[in-house]
Amino acid sequence: MTLSSGRLSSAWSALSTPLSKGGVMQSSLMETKNINIFDNYEALVEGTVELFVKLADEAIKARGKFIISLSGGNTPKGLYAKLAEKEVAARIDWSKVVVFFGDERTVPYTSPDSNQRMITESLLSKVALSRENVFALNDPDMDPKATAIEYERTMHEFFRLASDELPQFDFMLLGLGDDGHTASLFPGSPALQEKERWFIDNKVEKLSTVRLTTTYPVINNSRNIIFLASGKGKAAVLKDVLTGPQGKYPSQNVKAENGKLYWYLDKDIAAEL
Ligand code: 6PG
Repeated sequence: MTLSSGRLSSAWSALSTPLSKGGVMQSSLMETKNINIFDNYEALVEGTVELFVKLADEAIKARGKFIISLSGGNTPKGLYAKLAEKEVAARIDWSKVVVFFGDERTVPYTSPDSNQRMITESLLSKVALSRENVFALNDPDMDPKATAIEYERTMHEFFRLASDELPQFDFMLLGLGDDGHTASLFPGSPALQEKERWFIDNKVEKLSTVRLTTTYPVINNSRNIIFLASGKGKAAVLKDVLTGPQGKYPSQNVKAENGKLYWYLDKDIAAEL
């Protein structure tokens, strides 16, 4: 954990204090799963901003660009708003940042449920990104299968890889649903079995809808996978995801096969760990 000193102390103190209940096993869980617990949502957002700035710096120094995949839902809204704040945004060379959307609902851009709209309004429209470095999903509500194929083609054209290679994101932001889903990889949905496609349309029976989502092969090939999750409402599912039987929840199949995985949590969601 290499955060700014203030943040480190609160994170560490949070690590040692609540864990005293669980003793040694819990601290090894923290270490092995790279779990970072922050006092509250605000501190979690600030801690994630520090990680974003650090990883952006490293990627741009090493490869000249920072390729990110951003998630939807409510939890990252505070992060996007913070990254868009003048003094924070000034710490990132946005001209070198390349943005993809990790998953999307099959709704028009004008819908309040559109991830692209939320992310664009809370962050992308407020920072000095180059337009050609933001890869949007076209008309996700019209023909999701065609939209997924087109977006996948866009990823192939951007990453320009050999046929057996996978794209590697520098920052893959994920959330955790209260049913243990992540991105739009929902329990029992067909995309959980996808081994070849990079981005796909996914029928989600329980929501009687189709979602568009990045697949496990791409997620798991990322340099940095960041689960950002908060709130006591998810404390039970988080505990089960981290300490329960494996293979039960879609989020459990996220494994850093070619990089590092981080759990960025607030104390509320970590209360049962
Ligand atoms: C989406 C997301 C999804 C989200 C979780 C958690 O499109 O909804 O990408 O995977 O991260 O559902 O959502 P909340 O942050 O709203 O709890």
